[in-house]
Amino acid sequence: MKTQPYKQDTGNLAYKVGVTLDRFIKSKQADFPYATGELSQILRDIALASKIVSREISRAGLSDVTGAFGQTNVQGEEQQKLDVVANVRFTRALTKGGEVCAVVSEEEDLVIDLHNSKGKYVVAIDPLDGSSNVDVNVSIGTIFSIYRRLSPVGSPIQEKDVLQNGSGQVAAGYVLYGSSTMLVYTTGHGANGFTYERSLGEFFLSHPEMRMPEDGAIYTINEGLTPHINTNILSYLEACKRRGASARYIGSLVADFHRNLLKGGIYLYPATAQARQGKIRLMYEANALAFIAEQAGGAASDGRQRILDISPEGLHQRTPLFIGSKNMVKQLEEALGN
Ligand code: AHG
Ligand code: MN
Ligand code: MN
Repeated sequence: MKTQPYKQDTGNLAYKVGVTLDRFIKSKQADFPYATGELSQILRDIALASKIVSREISRAGLSDVTGAFGQTNVQGEEQQKLDVVANVRFTRALTKGGEVCAVVSEEEDLVIDLHNSKGKYVVAIDPLDGSSNVDVNVSIGTIFSIYRRLSPVGSPIQEKDVLQNGSGQVAAGYVLYGSSTMLVYTTGHGANGFTYERSLGEFFLSHPEMRMPEDGAIYTINEGLTPHINTNILSYLEACKRRGASARYIGSLVADFHRNLLKGGIYLYPATAQARQGKIRLMYEANALAFIAEQAGGAASDGRQRILDISPEGLHQRTPLFIGSKNMVKQLEEALGN
């Protein structure tokens, strides 16, 4: 039979859309410690929920999902309606497949037992990060960590399944609902970023093997905190300014982190006189971003130790967070005398 090679050269007529998230996850499945496809399914479920949340966010001003929900969460913070919507969307998506036995969420007081006792995985999630920015149309995000349970499959969930060090994460990621929606995730083999093509309903690989510059020229801190923080941090910030660094602060950790990941920089949320452990949540925010930062060649510290080495004592535990370009985080630790 006569055949011909597939002619790909069509000029600009049919530009390549590239690799879908689905295909990418499948192609990387063998990298997972236990290649049964369950972890891949969890990532796909999270991606699906994020598409729904992205849709809700993009029309937020037209539907009744802006503003406060009228309740405070366990951390005493006022819940926004979209916090509640996102929490439901992600939790529901993770309930379906049976791979996840428990979810811990910034928006829930206690561990949610999904009654999938055969599920091998635990997910920690900040369903909507930066929710104070929702009503003013500024970038927000979702952050997630996936752990393998430690107790035997089939038995009731135990505290140790949930309170694992960040170094126990088998995968982590975030979704940024920004000028475009992006999903970035790692399974411990580098970090890859995908951009959502809304009209096709698919994430496509757009940022393969992301690398964070080792040095950067951006510092990211809520400058209003500076009267209440360690003076060594102030000296570090002054040194950044003398070197010509710029201040950039969005107030959504995901968005601030993502910018610094691409451009190089450091994000600081230190302890303050009022909040001795800072503001950022270890289980829902710091651990996932620390895993991604390290996988992209960056670093994450609480000022004394690697974020991923902290042993959590409580679900809603907070931690000071210094995360970003490797050399900047190192200089900050040195400024603190560590
Ligand atoms: P969340 O919306 O999930 O509660 O998180 C808000 C966090 C984080 O995204 C951001 O970097 C930080 O709070 C901002 O805090 P300040 O308003 O104190 O600057
Ligand atoms: Mn958050
Ligand atoms: Mn949140």
